[in-house]
Amino acid sequence: MHPDDRPRRTFAVISHPDAGKSTLTEALALHARVIAEAGAVHGKAGRRGTVSDWMEIERARGISISSAALQFAYRDHVVNLVDTPGHADFSEDTYRVLAAVDSAVMLIDAAKGLEPQTLKLFQVCAHRGLPVITVINKWDRPGLDALALMDEIETRIGLKPTPLTWPVGIAGDFHGVLDRRDGDFIRYTRTAGGATRAPEEHLPAAQASREVGADWHDAVEASDLLAADGADHDQDLFLAGQTTPVLFASALLNFGVAQLLDVLLDLAPAPGPNLAEDGVARCPEDEFSAYVFKVQAGMDAAHRDRVAFARVCSGVFERGMVVTHAQTGRPFATKYAKAVFGRDRAAIDTALPGDIIGLINATALRVGDTIYDGAPVTYPRVPSFAPEHFATARALDAGRYKQFRRGIEQLDQEGVVQVLRSEVRGDQAPVLAAVGPMQFEVAAARMAAEFNAPIHLEKLAYTLAQRTSEDHAPHLAGTPGVEVLRRSDGEQLALFPDKWRLDSVRRQHPELLLEPLPASST
Ligand code: G4P
Repeated sequence: MHPDDRPRRTFAVISHPDAGKSTLTEALALHARVIAEAGAVHGKAGRRGTVSDWMEIERARGISISSAALQFAYRDHVVNLVDTPGHADFSEDTYRVLAAVDSAVMLIDAAKGLEPQTLKLFQVCAHRGLPVITVINKWDRPGLDALALMDEIETRIGLKPTPLTWPVGIAGDFHGVLDRRDGDFIRYTRTAGGATRAPEEHLPAAQASREVGADWHDAVEASDLLAADGADHDQDLFLAGQTTPVLFASALLNFGVAQLLDVLLDLAPAPGPNLAEDGVARCPEDEFSAYVFKVQAGMDAAHRDRVAFARVCSGVFERGMVVTHAQTGRPFATKYAKAVFGRDRAAIDTALPGDIIGLINATALRVGDTIYDGAPVTYPRVPSFAPEHFATARALDAGRYKQFRRGIEQLDQEGVVQVLRSEVRGDQAPVLAAVGPMQFEVAAARMAAEFNAPIHLEKLAYTLAQRTSEDHAPHLAGTPGVEVLRRSDGEQLALFPDKWRLDSVRRQHPELLLEPLPASST
């Protein structure tokens, strides 16, 4: 089959829970033609979405812990929306998803402004140099002042907002937007419940001035103020991660959604070269290579299997091709490549750079692995992030130790939790480490349901981990309040109850190696 070689855009939406990510996903699907929807669009439990049902806690909380990608066509492009976990708790999954995209859409609730999760996620984008497009959502409801929101973005995250559109009407009275690029008025019209594409008209400024009056003039005035403040879009600064184009929208009413799609196509970067471990970049037109950013087992009852999600970095993927697994050097057959979204799957035949492929039963593949065809390439792994929560895990039933060990090993490989061990604690009670506490719930639920080895978790009083060396480990291990454990990637981690204990050890023993882990604030 001839590959669909339309240009690609691959992005993720980052937001605090309830900002409207699921609603926006549905609205995007309404505007575009979904290629690999395979069922309904991802949504909350009880809504029309198909949330994978492999775990009860997902259902109970109305969240989805599994990530996949939605592919759709818009204008002459193919757009990949990579799903990020939508829960308040912070997990490593989100970081990894951001390693698979070329840009991010930061969705902000107009009434709430920046929220903790948005700030944290934004820091990860900044760290990775990902260009960010900001969408102020829920403008149909009372909210904060638009200029105040711009100010908040600039002062709290240090990114200069450059609005492309400006709302006509305050939050709660949304008529449309002033398109700052051409000065036109884009008027939106409500449809019942936002169930169909909202009609929009483009009116020249003079007509808007006559028909809208005061709200239009306020928008023009605000836009002039922004221009005087240098808040106009600059493509180079946007790509360099210094500015963020801003759009105003109502995902629920489908207002501003077409503008977002246009911006993704016109301004967001296309898949580019990827730097390999040897420092050499692989270009999209080179031979096939892909990077595994997520591995998930038991996604639902109907398909009890293990799916490795990989982003195509270069070349053309064709289902059935035999590629090489960089980490083992072994051949890897791709007969079962699928597009996976929610619980349904559709076989995919070809994929291009930027596309996400789901490799079913890819037991050899781990998060961070590379597969390639032709000249060998290995992409650097996304670093494991600094855990802030620690708990020991024990098998509730000592007779099921074998299952317990297998389960812990699997969760470790998938990156559900990090697993730390020491001779003192022994293999019966490894320490699980997580960025957010919900990772423990996920681990416990899966140990019981999938591996038939329920566990007892006991929280430990540590809150931060530092990297140390083999030589310094014994000294640190003998320090009161400090414990040293080995992570499965070989790193020696020293755990501290708090920053004060760490500071005091640092003061007393400046010779000891104590380094922060990636994304740690310490
Ligand atoms: P999330 O995935 O980011 O967690 O958010 P989600 O889309 O589920 O939206 C959270 C709530 O905000 C939903 O209401 C949704 O309808 C509402 N919402 C999303 N976008 C907009 C918008 O542009 N305008 C308005 N007014 N509301 C919006 P809910 O009551 O929790 O759910 P539902 O029962 O209404 O579906």
